[in-house]
Amino acid sequence: MRLQIPITSLDFEKYYQLRWEILRKPWNQPKGTEKDDSENSSFHLMALNDEMECIGVSRLQKNTREEAQIRFMGIRGDQQGKGVGKLLMAALEQKAKEDGVRKIILQARENAVPFYLSLGYKQIEKTFLLWDIIQHYKMEKEI
Ligand SMILES: CC(C)(COP(=O)(O)OP(=O)(O)OC[C@H]1O[C@@H](n2cnc3c(N)ncnc32)[C@H](O)[C@@H]1OP(=O)(O)O)[C@@H](O)C(=O)NCCC(=O)NCCS
Repeated sequence: MRLQIPITSLDFEKYYQLRWEILRKPWNQPKGTEKDDSENSSFHLMALNDEMECIGVSRLQKNTREEAQIRFMGIRGDQQGKGVGKLLMAALEQKAKEDGVRKIILQARENAVPFYLSLGYKQIEKTFLLWDIIQHYKMEKEI
């Protein structure tokens, strides 16, 4: 397994495909909903297995000079719980540090709160209910 910044159009195809499959498809959300207006200005990172399949995706966006936000974190179902998410998070935190960021915030899906807690994020508050189903919690970490 290795981490890679997506560069080619094939990289991005695989990257957005996994994002859609993990974070949108199970809730019947159509293709296209996996992207927002900040893709071009964000830092993207993916995990590839030895077969060059994309098994993990994540995105870092800068909110202010000192604050960044991690979004669209997803690991392929059969690869969850094997440390891939932890590696992606560490790499994004490193990148944020290099960019002068002091604090990372994120909106965690309820199921992912224990994952972020294990990485040192603090649970700040209950926020929105996505599609009337998925409760989110704001979390943050000083880096
Ligand atoms: C949540 C998710 C990103 C975590 O990535 P992952 O690769 O499965 O997690 P890792 O294997 O790197 O786990 C890292 C640590 O978090 C802990 N952890 C992960 N998921 C956990 C869970 N559901 N409950 C408790 N602990 C959990 C692991 O035990 C591990 O701790 P350790 O290092 O002490 O062993 C991944 O499971 C996923 O994509 N889930 C579905 C989509 C999703 O909810 N994305 C997040 C949207 S905010």
